[in-house]
Amino acid sequence: MELFNENSKLAAVIHKDHSLLPVINRLGIKLGFGDKTIRNICEERGIDLNFFVETINVFHYEAYFPEKRLLDFSVSIVIDYLVKTHQYYVNYLMPENDRLVELFLLSSPNESTENELVRKFYTKFKDEFVIHINFEEREMFPYILKLSEAIANPDLRTSFKQNYPGYSIEGFEKEHSNMDDKMDDLKNIIIKYLPPNYDQNRGNAFLSNIFLFERDMKNHSRIEDNILIPKVKQLEKVLLNHE
Ligand SMILES: [Fe+2]
Ligand SMILES: [Fe+2]
Repeated sequence: MELFNENSKLAAVIHKDHSLLPVINRLGIKLGFGDKTIRNICEERGIDLNFFVETINVFHYEAYFPEKRLLDFSVSIVIDYLVKTHQYYVNYLMPENDRLVELFLLSSPNESTENELVRKFYTKFKDEFVIHINFEEREMFPYILKLSEAIANPDLRTSFKQNYPGYSIEGFEKEHSNMDDKMDDLKNIIIKYLPPNYDQNRGNAFLSNIFLFERDMKNHSRIEDNILIPKVKQLEKVLLNHE
């Protein structure tokens, strides 16, 4: 398994795995970086070099998950990355799905009950997705950021405990499986059951975008479940020991 490192040229990284394009954007980098290495680019733009390298490797190699090294990063850097990922889904991938699903369904000769079924499954998946990220951004992430502020600044601990009496991350933890199940249902209805009297290229275009979404979201969820939550549990223990 070849991992990318700080001396890799970012252009070569992208040639090797172009699915990293949105990942590097979220980490604060746009194209046009010539032959610079990851280290040059991160230093120029004030990006945390280790977080950058670990995140692209997590994305590039499914089997790579350096829990120990990732636990070194501050929760705010991890949450910042996760929120940018949500924005990419909400502002780009979801509207792109909306557009592609309509192009695909409009390509069948006449509107049918089957089309309605696909729309229904698609809407269910979208609703689940919106509930999930709203919950994280409105409730879970603010709790985590306040907790880490309270650890860093003892003056804030009393007000934190007043605002979050008896809270712990276990109460917040939500499974990702609901969203994954809805996505599987949507893919399966098209792959296995929908009569194929639509434009195959348009069907493939929609499915490809869903598969892309799925891959990105699995990596995103892995970071939440395996990095963020264990880090928060550590912080909660620290706070408890200060009591
Ligand atoms: Fe998330
Ligand atoms: Fe999540």
